[in-house]
Amino acid sequence: MTKPVFASAELLSWYDRHGRNLPWRRRWPELAPAYHVWLSEIMLQQTLVSTVIPYFLDFISRWPRIEDLADAPLDDVLAAWAGLGYYARARNLHKAAKVVAEENGGHFPQTDDELRALPGVGPYTAGAIGTIAFGQRRVVVDGNIERVMARFFGISTPLPAAKAEIGRYYAAIMPDERPSDFPQALMDFANAVCTPKGANCRLCPFASHCTAFAAGTVEAFPVKPAKKARETRRGIAFVARARSGEVFLVRRQDSGMLGGMLAFPSTGWATRSEDFDSEAALDAAPFLAAWRRLDHRVQHVFTHFAVEMEVAVADISMPADVARPAIAGDWKLVRPEDLPSLMRKVWKAAKKATTEWEGA
Ligand code: ADE
Repeated sequence: MTKPVFASAELLSWYDRHGRNLPWRRRWPELAPAYHVWLSEIMLQQTLVSTVIPYFLDFISRWPRIEDLADAPLDDVLAAWAGLGYYARARNLHKAAKVVAEENGGHFPQTDDELRALPGVGPYTAGAIGTIAFGQRRVVVDGNIERVMARFFGISTPLPAAKAEIGRYYAAIMPDERPSDFPQALMDFANAVCTPKGANCRLCPFASHCTAFAAGTVEAFPVKPAKKARETRRGIAFVARARSGEVFLVRRQDSGMLGGMLAFPSTGWATRSEDFDSEAALDAAPFLAAWRRLDHRVQHVFTHFAVEMEVAVADISMPADVARPAIAGDWKLVRPEDLPSLMRKVWKAAKKATTEWEGA
């Protein structure tokens, strides 16, 4: 590959003027603590910067050192993560914190192999930690950087096959100076100028060398694989409320959607919309009670499918009145902030429906 023209020095000077001040960030030659870089990178996977900021600040104030996070009960970590989604990330985060705290005396490893051995750390995150926390010159290509590279170099191979090619271009344009700033400058540039839709090419200092701009096809890059239609799955969730205000909650299995999170008992959501038998689904209730189905259905969109959930409520005098539930659970006061987003919506719908106690 001939050395491609990409004005990396100009990008860094753009970053000096327009880069964001984010709470996990430091500017070269200062490097951010590896704990902060790792935590932010895990939170930022599939999640917007604006969503992550309050969670990041909350985590580092509750658990200022990785040893504190490692010592925290998993349930507290999952509760603090509630609402961020992709809950396997939180379980892996806790496991990785234990490895670093217990096996490494609280020091983050620095080599690619050691970083990738940590639960939840893949090639991208290992590269990001090496570069941003330790100032190594590593390839760091996230979805934003992919977009800039694919447009600038006119990479027409569809993703994800294009990743290797994009990585080679990145390695070729990576400057020797300011290694920790470079990928973050590209990310901010992608976010502010080279946006997915309505890119600000008029403000772009690189437009005169950009392949996609020259061809007038900026939005055609990066080339994505054909999209499958997102299917809708159906289910029903059961909200049993006691006069004392407690509700029946379960802890979901570690594997699968919302793994390890607190939730209302529900049917699985594997059922495609057309196959869902709403009457039969009531048989999945955790115990016998006067279940009342609400008219309102809760809608929630996950990455690969949407869920439409019915909500059934039952008002119970006392938890002790309930015959042995078919599944293990606890009667607890609900703290919506501890629940995943879908279950918060279920709780909101259930709360809207007046209880017998309120109506009486
Ligand atoms: N997305 C992933 N890592 C990021 C970072 N360090 N800064 C901004 N956006 C990011």
